[in-house]
Amino acid sequence: MDNIGDPTSAVTPTSADAAFEQAMALHGENRLDEAERLYQAALSLDPGHAGALCYLGLLRLQQDRPEDSVTLLQQAIERDAGAAEAHHHLGVALERLGVYGQALACQDTALALIPDYGDALHHRGQALHALGRVPEAIASYEAALAQSPDDPQLELALAAALEASGRDEEAFVHCRNAVGFDPALTDQLSQALGRFGQRQPAKAQAGMQRLNRYIGTFLTNQANARMGVYPGLASAPYHDVARLPGALALERNYAAIKAEIEALAATEFQAEAENLMERGAWDVFLFYERSRKNEENCERCPTITRIIEANNTVRTQAGLLYVSKLSPGTHIRPHLGPTNQRLRCHLGIRIPEGDCGLRVGSETRKWQEGSCIVFDDSLEHEAWNHTDEPRIVLIIDFWHPDLTPAEIAYLEGLHRFASFQAVSLNRYWTANAESRSQARKHYD
Ligand code: OGA
Ligand code: MN
Repeated sequence: MDNIGDPTSAVTPTSADAAFEQAMALHGENRLDEAERLYQAALSLDPGHAGALCYLGLLRLQQDRPEDSVTLLQQAIERDAGAAEAHHHLGVALERLGVYGQALACQDTALALIPDYGDALHHRGQALHALGRVPEAIASYEAALAQSPDDPQLELALAAALEASGRDEEAFVHCRNAVGFDPALTDQLSQALGRFGQRQPAKAQAGMQRLNRYIGTFLTNQANARMGVYPGLASAPYHDVARLPGALALERNYAAIKAEIEALAATEFQAEAENLMERGAWDVFLFYERSRKNEENCERCPTITRIIEANNTVRTQAGLLYVSKLSPGTHIRPHLGPTNQRLRCHLGIRIPEGDCGLRVGSETRKWQEGSCIVFDDSLEHEAWNHTDEPRIVLIIDFWHPDLTPAEIAYLEGLHRFASFQAVSLNRYWTANAESRSQARKHYD
């Protein structure tokens, strides 16, 4: 029989280390029974083999035998107290047994050995939550997310802790992130929406009524569906920054955000694709672009990315999230965005002295470094930089703060299916007559 290349039928290894290596390879392929035989072989050759004790302990956990797991992991730690993984797995086993205080101590030990150990931070959060220490659990989950930003279970765990602290809106953001990473978790989102609705019935009901009115317009406006226009949302050129927790987070983290943006080289920006300039140059650095995450750009700016992903930002094709640079002498002519479902936030990063500003409707404002301006970009607006220095702002679209979590979840679903470009064109053609001559189709 040909044994080459198949670890299962290999001759029995003669050293504990060789058996351990083979066992790990099989374990990695989830071939648990075969891995178990080889861990046992390693232990019969060297009963104190710390690696074999540790991974057989993990395997027992996977077999749902947490007591046996604890015994093996404790032995592993006796042999090698510096093995962070053994402490972490022991913590998970103890958590499974409901011994949360001890589970927490194990994760703390693992983290003392490896401070950015993502799984240990995750399970430290679980133990803290179970012990009722919810604010600390939230901090631990947030630290874990900084290590593994795309982990749906971690997002769900954070959502649960936020919900337990009465922070439903934030819980919703993380629940939605989880579903984005793993659509099989959609049930968890709909259950969460049900709970939020029960806690705030009047608000939830008003939201569903608006949504019905909105969908009703599809029926009556078949020839001219203005899908960007949502009924019943507060409308004004400028809005209070305090209505958007995400905008406040941008202001709080201004120093780190500014440092991230200033570290970008001019060549990393690209020319804005829409031809809205009367003159000058408009360059952008995109984090999300019509529902697509720009991974490379997001990695360059971790603080900005974390704020984007922890808040009610519009990450469907209806939103844009980017750094905008207007070169000296640039004027963006009057135009309208496609929808009132979002509010646009500009955080001033570099604002020259002199004549630069933003007009929305009939009111002109000037940005300030470190402060946000929140406006409704579905109203006519224009921006200019008539100074001889560049002007830089961070632009983040947020869901309109009047929208309930359920409305946002449904709108996201719609945006996934609808062609927002067609909508945008409609919005342009249905704009009022005097601005129509000047305004250009513009999704930004
Ligand atoms: C906008 C816009 C241009 C800018 O944010 O909608 O047109 O960079 N802004 O000021
Ligand atoms: Mn615009």
